Amino acid sequence: MSEQFHKLTVSKLEKPIKDAVRISFTLPKHLIKEFSYHPGQHLLIEFEIEGESYRRTYSLNSCPFLEEDLQISIKRVKAGKVSNFANDQLKEGDTLKVMKPKGRFFAQITAEAYKSYYLFAAGSGITPIFSILKSILVASPYSQVYLFYGNKNQDSILFNEELKSLQAEYKQRLEIVHILSNPGLWSSWESWKGKKGRINSREIEDFINHHPPIAQQTEYFICGPSSMNLDVRKSLMELGIPADLIHIEHFSANQDEGIRKIDSVDHANIELSYQKNSFHFEMKKGQTILQGLKENGIEVPYSCESGVCGSCVAKLREGSAEMKTCMALDDKDIEEGYILNCQALATSERLKIEIP
Ligand code: FES
Repeated sequence: MSEQFHKLTVSKLEKPIKDAVRISFTLPKHLIKEFSYHPGQHLLIEFEIEGESYRRTYSLNSCPFLEEDLQISIKRVKAGKVSNFANDQLKEGDTLKVMKPKGRFFAQITAEAYKSYYLFAAGSGITPIFSILKSILVASPYSQVYLFYGNKNQDSILFNEELKSLQAEYKQRLEIVHILSNPGLWSSWESWKGKKGRINSREIEDFINHHPPIAQQTEYFICGPSSMNLDVRKSLMELGIPADLIHIEHFSANQDEGIRKIDSVDHANIELSYQKNSFHFEMKKGQTILQGLKENGIEVPYSCESGVCGSCVAKLREGSAEMKTCMALDDKDIEEGYILNCQALATSERLKIEIP
């Protein structure tokens, strides 16, 4: 097993809704420090299913400010190998290979902050948002949280019960607006008193107008399908919100984004620093850095291999590289030299990169 993975035991399995499973891991004492995390970060997990290994990234929905087990939630995806395995076959007491929490999508929460947080989530995009929301309520007593949460119908709301009890407990500091795209039969349409439709620019403007910030400092977190994320960001920026206050986590590739064709260099020399080690290898034309690393037997973090999860992020120290697609980094990250190894191809003969 790669040195970065740790075997964690599944301590509890729950079914919050029909097609999702919530998985808790109790950490052994010696891993507690290594597995400390910020709300919004994710775990990279390797599943062994029928003799094959599958890596997936799942956001933590637990709260790091409480003495809770680490917890993730996995919604069933039609024909999804891992999500169906987790929902149907995984058992309490099983062990999974898990890397320590990572991710650049997180909230830096402090007890002194006096802030208004606006959170936007759709479907299972609620998982990191739930961790952020709960952490703000628990650990930032002067801050206010507004959640705008989109789902298909009432049965698909992943944290419905937990959100209701948080709303009852933190009446003055938490406002939640649900919006359903397809509440179901006519009787459900009739009985549903909340919003109907999808999170779009008109709804976002309406949401913010109805929930003006209580504090001068605001921050915005978005997690949902890529198309929704980009729409919300665009709408917020049109309302004059600076880009650096808007944080986005993608959980599925947006096919509309398109894959760029990159004319890469043949025999590029790569120098990689990772965990105090230095590796040198050569890449072929058309190869991504991750493909080059794998071909040379160098084990580094990665998961989706489609530019979405951000597990393979690296910093370009010298040379140039271009990415075929990139949903996991924002413009500022890219300006600062961050790249995704699974998407980046060398466009200069020599590259120096570092995995943080
Ligand atoms: S492995 Fe997921 S973005 Fe590269």
